[in-house]
Amino acid sequence: MGEGSNPLHVIVFANEKGGTGKSTTAVHTAIALAAKGARVACLDLDHRQRTLGRYLDNRQATIKRTGRELPMPRYETHDGESESRFHELLEQLGTGTDFLIVDTPGRDDKFGRIAITNADTLITPMNDSFVDFDLIGHVDPDTFKVVRPSFYSELIWDSRKRRAKADGATIDWIVLRNRMQHIEARNMRRVSEAIDQLAKRVGFRVIPGLSERVIYRELFPKGLTMLDSREFGEMGLAHVAARQELREMMAGMALPEPASTMPLFA
Ligand SMILES: Nc1ncnc2c1ncn2[C@@H]1O[C@H](COP(=O)(O)OP(=O)(O)OP(=O)(O)O)[C@@H](O)[C@H]1O
Ligand SMILES: [Mg+2]
Repeated sequence: MGEGSNPLHVIVFANEKGGTGKSTTAVHTAIALAAKGARVACLDLDHRQRTLGRYLDNRQATIKRTGRELPMPRYETHDGESESRFHELLEQLGTGTDFLIVDTPGRDDKFGRIAITNADTLITPMNDSFVDFDLIGHVDPDTFKVVRPSFYSELIWDSRKRRAKADGATIDWIVLRNRMQHIEARNMRRVSEAIDQLAKRVGFRVIPGLSERVIYRELFPKGLTMLDSREFGEMGLAHVAARQELREMMAGMALPEPASTMPLFA
């Protein structure tokens, strides 16, 4: 837990479907919060791919190489095996921290499940596709109306029950739409309608995430994000638009205002 009036807020990125954008949105969220002055720590539970950890390694290397001061979260990677190490990392990263960001693997994972139950905000990135949607809900093949929630929704439902029992807290579950394309496609509208129907039934919020942009893939080797504006010099229109959508994504999360970003003399 954080200190005094400034409790720790845990944000978990999870979706058992692989490649939906968990690590990409997790790193952007971490850096957006750190750039605001919040105390941010990251825990990567995907010890095989270690995308979040590698992204931040690259960022650390950029800081060393260029001598620039970039907002930099603390971060660790779990080995995927040791229970005691897992709890040690939670304790260590959660101390003196406003936001703990946990990235989970794109598969069922024991520690991923524990993280979900301990989330204050749970973010499930999803692409506009019925293949991705299938994990959270089944649709009628003719009408595309939601027939029933599927196993992943049930898993989250169980986690929420367990959490409510443990400390009475609620998990704010957010489905974040990633790799959005700004073309009017009938399939996208159908997926979007199905998500909205299921949102009401299962109890999650839907927020806009990132558009499909090459820049989100290209910044990885340097560990930069669109928020590191000074690193880019003159920014093109596409960059400005990307920053704007990042701001909207962060606003959609509706996270608590951390005490540490407040001015000392208000
Ligand atoms: N908005 C986007 N625009 C373009 N490419 C993206 C976008 N979001 C993610 N990607 C790319 O999609 C791939 C998968 O993204 P990412 O690694 O963040 O997903 P993940 O859910 O963490 O995957 P895994 O389940 O394997 O951990 C990466 O190559 C990433 O760069
Ligand atoms: Mg990942």
